[in-house]
Amino acid sequence: MNLYFDNASTSFPKPQEVGEFINTYLNQGGTYGRAAYPRVFEASKMVEETRFMLSKYIGTSLVDNVIFTFNSTSALNTLIQGFSYKYKKILISPLEHNAVGRPLEFMKVSQGVNYQTLPHDDDGLINLDKLKSLKLNDIDLIIVNHVSNVNGLIQPLKDIKRIIGEIPFIVDASQSLGKVPVLADEWGIDMLAFTGHKGLNGPTGIGGFFIRNPKLVEPMIYGGTGSNSEKLVLPKFCPDRFEAGTQNIMGIYGLLGALKNQPKIKYTIDAYYLLLQRIKELSDIKMLISNSLENQSDVFSIQPNNVEVSLFTKLLYDIHKIEVRGGLQCSPLTHITLDTFPKGAIRFSLSNFHTDSDLNHLLSCIIDIHERLQSK
Ligand SMILES: Cc1ncc(COP(=O)(O)O)c(C=O)c1O
Repeated sequence: MNLYFDNASTSFPKPQEVGEFINTYLNQGGTYGRAAYPRVFEASKMVEETRFMLSKYIGTSLVDNVIFTFNSTSALNTLIQGFSYKYKKILISPLEHNAVGRPLEFMKVSQGVNYQTLPHDDDGLINLDKLKSLKLNDIDLIIVNHVSNVNGLIQPLKDIKRIIGEIPFIVDASQSLGKVPVLADEWGIDMLAFTGHKGLNGPTGIGGFFIRNPKLVEPMIYGGTGSNSEKLVLPKFCPDRFEAGTQNIMGIYGLLGALKNQPKIKYTIDAYYLLLQRIKELSDIKMLISNSLENQSDVFSIQPNNVEVSLFTKLLYDIHKIEVRGGLQCSPLTHITLDTFPKGAIRFSLSNFHTDSDLNHLLSCIIDIHERLQSK
């Protein structure tokens, strides 16, 4: 039985090839793009193959504009802090993570950049009709979390971009890449941040971003790239513009192992919908999911009335060894939108390794804890 339901924090288990590829690198060694002997050629080839595979997941033909970072937090910091603001005005989705909220708050205090929330429904879905009627002519940047790490809502990126036109659009794909289709070129996404250790099933410490027009953003890190070394200015071309310093080559190997061996989804959508339905029927529980199942990913949360979130979470583990994350999930802005702040919620997040019987078992454990706490 797979009792791990905290895949939105970091996915587990990983495909076994993740470890195998990391091991290959540790035994083989070699830096990336900086010297000219076979060990380096081999490591560099693997890094470029990973970049290429990521470009397919992102849906872009601009392979060199896929940049490696440590995670999506470092990617989002580069994009948000490095952006050249004219009007100092940003619009964000109502379901943002602190990886966006905190850099924005920093920019507000340090540079007077203002951010406001896009019009939305009560589940956080961006309201396209209201968006159409907004005056957007002095907005520098729009940032949208593709899949919420609290209620799992999937935002309609293509429609949003169609409405906002030329305004640069950053997508936080931390929870979506590898799980929900992304078509960056077709939808016109300008920038997209991702992380390797969640839906892509890779190791921690590796992530990145895609940037269509690199001139929009100044790099955060300056240093050696192995290219144009005679000049003290950083090269302007990608990926070097944003990849100074030796990258996490070991992590990139592990990610490649994952990308080449993505697990097929083992549970059925019917079993998942049944799980959601049965939890919804429980009394005294607020369910955090999207209003329409069409926009629902494999992440959802619950907030029990009259019971501490930490107690419910602790009992799930102590009695049933179910591993989940309770609290605010680093997303106070999301909980404010969903009216679950500051108490927070208990989050359940699936992996493709779960089976229908894992989901049935989870349901019985939730019902058991719920009944125990009700009868107290
Ligand atoms: C929506 C969202 N954005 C950003 C992040 C940050 O990801 P990382 O910790 O890999 O940088 C997370 C992780 O929980 C997330 O769920």
